[in-house]
Amino acid sequence: MPVTFDPSRPLNIAPSILSADFARLGEEITAVEAQGANWIHVDPMDGHFVPNLTIGPNVVAAIRPYVKTVMDVHLMIAPADPYLEAFAKAGSDILTVHAEAGPHLDRSLQAIRGLGCKAGVAINITTPLSVIEYCLDKIDLILVMTINPGFGGQKFTPSIVDKIAAARKMIGDRPIWLEVDGGIDPTTAPLCRQAGADVMVAGSAVFKGGTPKDYGKNIAAIRVSCE
Ligand code: DX5
Ligand code: ZN
Repeated sequence: MPVTFDPSRPLNIAPSILSADFARLGEEITAVEAQGANWIHVDPMDGHFVPNLTIGPNVVAAIRPYVKTVMDVHLMIAPADPYLEAFAKAGSDILTVHAEAGPHLDRSLQAIRGLGCKAGVAINITTPLSVIEYCLDKIDLILVMTINPGFGGQKFTPSIVDKIAAARKMIGDRPIWLEVDGGIDPTTAPLCRQAGADVMVAGSAVFKGGTPKDYGKNIAAIRVSCE
């Protein structure tokens, strides 16, 4: 489905299915969407850019029919360019590459939009915001990592709150989402929201408990914490 930017910057909660039951991904997606998820966050990893292996375009395509909201695909692979077309064809609405994953970020962003997806850039903890300064007009989403990517369930990095605020300032009134990912829960989400984030990725904090009822409570707790 086409996803459009809302200039009023509502809070979007994007459960990361990395913490879902992989044997029942379709059902898990249906459950979190029914319980208030705004987007579905998907985390392909290559065992090279990050020290973990997860899913590829075939699995992304298989879950696509279950996603009725927005499929937000966070590529932790390097190089990413050779696989952009496959992930776009698999049905990604938003396709995010890491700024650290290749030498020509501007080219990757153009390729993503050329494939009909919204273009996202993720930046690791130690990567300065300045890497995106000269390509802001080609970016639809900035993902500020609040952990070192690779695994769910890690601890939020408090020093990144300042970076989120700086990213928000850099965005100004441009139609660019500001997403945070890693260690987001009802304690850390409000810090990110105050700093200007409008998309909260949360894996373990959403899927803990393991039942749709738990998911509903967990999503509501994050939402309420940001109000
Ligand atoms: C990790 C992924 C995250 C992960 C977050 O590299 O990008 O999306 O699922 O998990 P939590 O919310 O448990 O930190
Ligand atoms: Zn992610």
